[in-house]
Parts: sequence; structure tokens; C-alpha cells
Amino acid sequence: MHKVVWDMDPGIDDALALILALKSPEVQVLGITTVAGNAPVEMTSANARCILEFLNEGGIPVAMGAANPLNHPLEDALSYHGPDGLGNCGLPLPLTPLYPVKAWDFLARLVLDAPGELTLVATGPLTNVAYAFELHAELPELLAGLVLMGGAYDLTPYGKGNRTPFAEFNIWQDPEAAHAVFNSGANIFAVGLDVSMDPAACLNSQHLEQIRTGRTPAAHLAAQLVEYEVKYHGCCRMHDPLALATLLDASLLDFTSARVEIVTGNDWDRGVTRILAADSSQLIHVASAVDGPRFLKLFLSHILEE
Ligand code: BDR
Ligand code: CA
Repeated sequence: MHKVVWDMDPGIDDALALILALKSPEVQVLGITTVAGNAPVEMTSANARCILEFLNEGGIPVAMGAANPLNHPLEDALSYHGPDGLGNCGLPLPLTPLYPVKAWDFLARLVLDAPGELTLVATGPLTNVAYAFELHAELPELLAGLVLMGGAYDLTPYGKGNRTPFAEFNIWQDPEAAHAVFNSGANIFAVGLDVSMDPAACLNSQHLEQIRTGRTPAAHLAAQLVEYEVKYHGCCRMHDPLALATLLDASLLDFTSARVEIVTGNDWDRGVTRILAADSSQLIHVASAVDGPRFLKLFLSHILEE
């Protein structure tokens, strides 16, 4: 069982990852922190809470974090995820209040209270995580691990970039935060576009038909989210669910340990994640391959479970 604190920016695929986690006995979500990324932070914070409420998990606390990346203005991805950030899925506004503590303080408190026990999952820009690590330099080594969705490492033909031709969205959005986190000493499992853009790991309209057979709130919501992606983008990319899946079945992905450079600033190569050298002594492990069909099978079976 993995005890998880999760920093996210829902976002369709963050939402699918959260649904997957809540349907997985292998994972216990202790708290959620929200960051600006796919949508402004007020919206990602409302989205996290309305998903939890819809799935009867309104007791999981949600603490709001940074409204902007460290050194850049936010450039959201609502044009991709829909005007509500969740593919116009029509969930009611949340009733649960936000947890009344800043995201980085909440995150740090959870980790400090259970040293070595918690896995940090990060599926948005790394702004909140960078703030938490800056405030508490001991946090990275008090984590059981840090699993993140971010980067494009040129390890497969798909590892090229989605926000620019060279950079992945989460890292591009806040490269200064990513630089700090990647150099923090945390044991990092980075799931990037190299695997999440693999067509074998994407949901298509046939998978959507299967999800539609489900009778639970989880299946109903997943169907709405996947339908939007299939309709507007041709298939549903599973970036964030793939990061979560490393906790459910580590054998789904291959990882290679490496030294990684994160390009900061605002030049053409902003947000590039470059492997400098494969090095088995490194604490950064980059996903280099995925068993797409087996991952999708796991996703569907968990989502469709009654
Ligand atoms: C990442 O960017 C966001 O749009 C998704 O939620 C995912 O975390 C993929 O590049
Ligand atoms: Ca995300």
C-alpha cells in the first residue's frame, strides 16, 4: 500500500489519474495540493474537490497552492482541456471548503509527520513542490519517493515535446521549479512523453465504449472525460494516469537512471529535459518504455470495478 500526497492541476488526465487512484486499493491518497497549470489555480482547486465529492471522497483534504510559476506568467491549457478544465463534464461546483493551509505547508506537514512513509505524486508544474523543498531542505530525503509526470527525454520516437517541439507542458510551464526539484536529492521517477505519447498507451473510441458499460460514478465520469478527448483530440492521452500506474504495477514501465539537465529561462529551449549521461548511481529514473496494452487493461479493469 502506497500512502500518497498528490500535487496536481486537474485537467482531464489528472482527473483520470485521480479516479484510477481512488479505485485502487494499492494507493491511499492522504491529501491533495493544487497548482496552476492546465487551468488557473482556483479552477484546479475546485476541480479536485468536485471530482472527490462526485466519487464520495469529499473527506480527502485539498490545499490550494501557487497561482503562477516561479518566474513566468501562467499559460494555461484550457484550449486543450475545455473551458472548465475537465472537458465540459458538467460536475456541480464543490461544497467542501479548501483545507485552510497553503499547499507547500500542507505537503511538508504530511511528509514531516510520517518520515520515509509517503510517496509524493506530482502531475502538474512543480511550483508547489519547489516551494516546499525550499522551505524544508530535508523533505526530499524524507519521501519514500517522488513520482512525477514531466519531460520529454528523446528515449523513444515519442519523447519530443508537446508545449513546444522540444519541451513537455509541465516542465515548460515552470522550468525553474523543475530544475530545483530535479536537483533536490529526491528519488525521482519521471514519466514523460516518451511513454505517454506511445499510441499503444492511449485510449481510443473502442475503449470508450467499454468504459460506457460501467455503472459506477467513477466509470460515468471517466466516460465523460475520455469522450471529450476522443472527440476533440482523436484519442485520450494518459500522461498522468501512467505516472500513477508506476505505483500500481512497477513492471508496466522500464526506467533508466540518468543525469538530467533542465533548461530554465525563456529561450527556444525553455523546459527541455536533456539526459546528460546514463548513470546507475543517479536518483533520477526516467521512463523509457511502457507495456501499453497491459497498462490500458489495468486502467479499464480498475475503473470498471463495481
Ligand atoms: C501534462 O501536461 C498537462 O496538460 C497534463 O495534465 C499532463 O500532466 C502532459 O504534458
Ligand atoms: Ca497534469
